[in-house]
Amino acid sequence: MELSRKHLEASSSYFLVYIELIVLVSCLHLQGLNMFGLAKAALAVRGNDTDQQALLLFKAKITGDELRVMESWNSSIHFCQWHSVTCGRKHQRVTKLELQYLKLSGSLSPYIGNLSFLKELNLVGNSFYNQIPQEIGYLRRLETLELINNSISGEIPSNLSACSKLALVDMRGNQLTGEIPASLSLLSNLKLLRFSNNSLRGSIPPSLGNLSSLQVFAFAMNGLTGIIPEALGKLTNLSLFTISSNAISGIVPLAMFNLSNIGVFDIGLNKIQCTLHSDLAINMPYVDFFSIGLNQISGQIPVSLSNCSNLNILQFNDNRLSGNVPPLEKLDKLYKLYMGTNHLGHGREGDLNFLCTLVNNTNGINLINLEWLATSQNQLSGPIPFDIGRLQKLKIFLADGNFLSGTIPHCIGNLTMLTELALDVNNLHGNIPSSLANCQNLVSLGLSYNNLRGSIPD
Ligand SMILES: *[C@@H]1O[C@H](CO)[C@@H](O)[C@H](O)[C@H]1NC(C)=O
Ligand SMILES: *[C@@H]1O[C@H](CO)[C@@H](O)[C@H](O)[C@H]1NC(C)=O
Ligand SMILES: *[C@@H]1O[C@H](CO)[C@@H](O)[C@H](O)[C@H]1NC(C)=O
Ligand SMILES: *[C@@H]1O[C@H](CO)[C@@H](O)[C@H](O)[C@H]1NC(C)=O
Ligand SMILES: *[C@@H]1O[C@H](CO)[C@@H](O)[C@H](O)[C@H]1NC(C)=O
Ligand SMILES: *[C@@H]1O[C@H](CO)[C@@H](O)[C@H](O)[C@H]1NC(C)=O
Ligand SMILES: *[C@@H]1O[C@H](CO)[C@@H](O)[C@H](O)[C@H]1NC(C)=O
Ligand SMILES: *[C@@H]1O[C@H](CO)[C@@H](O)[C@H](O)[C@H]1NC(C)=O
Ligand SMILES: *[C@@H]1O[C@H](CO)[C@@H](O)[C@H](O)[C@H]1NC(C)=O
Ligand SMILES: *[C@@H]1O[C@H](CO)[C@@H](O)[C@H](O)[C@H]1NC(C)=O
Ligand SMILES: *[C@@H]1O[C@H](CO)[C@@H](O)[C@H](O)[C@H]1NC(C)=O
Ligand SMILES: *[C@@H]1O[C@H](CO)[C@@H](O)[C@H](O)[C@H]1NC(C)=O
Repeated sequence: MELSRKHLEASSSYFLVYIELIVLVSCLHLQGLNMFGLAKAALAVRGNDTDQQALLLFKAKITGDELRVMESWNSSIHFCQWHSVTCGRKHQRVTKLELQYLKLSGSLSPYIGNLSFLKELNLVGNSFYNQIPQEIGYLRRLETLELINNSISGEIPSNLSACSKLALVDMRGNQLTGEIPASLSLLSNLKLLRFSNNSLRGSIPPSLGNLSSLQVFAFAMNGLTGIIPEALGKLTNLSLFTISSNAISGIVPLAMFNLSNIGVFDIGLNKIQCTLHSDLAINMPYVDFFSIGLNQISGQIPVSLSNCSNLNILQFNDNRLSGNVPPLEKLDKLYKLYMGTNHLGHGREGDLNFLCTLVNNTNGINLINLEWLATSQNQLSGPIPFDIGRLQKLKIFLADGNFLSGTIPHCIGNLTMLTELALDVNNLHGNIPSSLANCQNLVSLGLSYNNLRGSIPD
């Protein structure tokens, strides 16, 4: 791929020379000059002057430069040697502008569109403001556009869709408004599309499902509404999908659970209302972060989730899920499990047995990595299993607001890393185990609203 790209670029610059040559030939052919040499010189002069001019006009819009990096952009040296400017070796045209984290502020000059050989524009972590000029669409060779963490406002320029070589577009952390242009689907080389933490509105255009090379789709923290388009299920190369913190409703298209290259799947904090079935096939062998938390999802936790053996963080808290928590014995990398505020549990003994399956994993005790276990506000019943004492890394255990019965197991004292233990509002009885004194890191302990008796241990 690298080879063919270079080849294409080379041929397009020869094409320019060729045009220039034809013009010169038609003007000068009677004068017997060395036409080919002259044509090349004419192109070189016009080309590099345009770039210098464009850079100076770009600089002119920069109003804040406390590190004084733009001072080097002066005529004492060739613009290819200016700070953060990279030129192509052959034609001395600007190919990269890398001005990240330089405390620059100002607006983006439309003359940026004249840097017609630009492949990479990186302005990450500055304070550029105002709109992205539509002239960006003239950058036909642009592959990478990174404007992360600035104060850019206005809409995503629709003309961006003319930059057909774009592979990476990252504008997270700005103040972009308006809708996602459906025409972005024309950027067929896109691998990464990230607009998280902006103020985008409207719905996700179904046409984005045509971006078959896409690996990262990130639109978290915006004001998006509408549904998850069915077509996104076609993006089989996706490794990161996040639309968390929006107002997206409807269901999750089943094909999304089949995106087998996914590592991060996050639809948390939306208004999604689907019903999951315990036999839903979730086919995500590489997923390490899976969140459907803070939605209105009902039904049961799919058993197939227990096949996602690379899971680190699993969140399905704050929904309307009910029934069993499936066995988790293959999840030996799990370290955060959030399932609070649902209707989980059967009101029978053994609702916490999933904890035993976690402990019982075939790889032995050293791989029990669970640090956070949040199961508050459910309908979990039965005793706290003794196996809890083997979750040696547990720091946070929240099980308040359930129907847990029996005594607090003595082995709780084994959990020396515990900082927070919440067992309030259950049906626990018996004594507070004296072994709790071993939990020297405990900063918060909640045992109220139970049937505990006896004295409080020293
Ligand atoms: C443009 O290129 C020509 C020929 O290569 C060179 O003589 C001239 O100095 C260049 N001008 C600038 C501004 O780089
Ligand atoms: C021009 O740039 C050079 C470094 O490239 C710098 O040493 C010099 O101070 C600059 N001149 C002005 C007037 O800023
Ligand atoms: C340079 O950019 C300006 C502003 O977009 C435009 O008016 C002008 O035609 C461009 N010049 C060239 C040579 O592309
Ligand atoms: C934006 O794209 C439209 C449609 O291709 C074109 O007519 C227009 O000239 C472009 N505008 C700029 C400023 O590039
Ligand atoms: C953007 O800003 C956030 C918040 O300050 C920071 O956590 C993040 O690392 C920044 N991202 C980049 C790529 O600089
Ligand atoms: C969102 O982006 C802004 C920069 O534009 C940054 O200051 C803020 O911390 C970001 N918020 C998050 C949650 O990353
Ligand atoms: C792009 O996606 C839209 C909506 O999903 C579809 O109707 C259209 O046929 C697709 N176009 C191409 C070129 O695949
Ligand atoms: C998807 O990824 C595979 C493996 O990296 C790659 O061979 C394939 O070309 C990609 N498909 C698309 C449409 O980019
Ligand atoms: C999931 O993928 C399997 C095979 O890869 C396929 O048979 C099945 O139809 C897919 N399911 C959905 C809902 O796309
Ligand atoms: C887990 O994966 C295995 C192997 O791919 C498969 O046979 C089994 O049906 C899966 N279990 C569930 C509950 O999806
Ligand atoms: C733990 O594993 C053993 C041996 O594989 C099995 O007999 C036992 O039923 C398991 N216990 C639980 C609670 O899954
Ligand atoms: C307490 O921890 C030790 C390892 O430090 C372990 O061998 C033992 O099984 C644990 N006891 C209980 C009751 O879980």
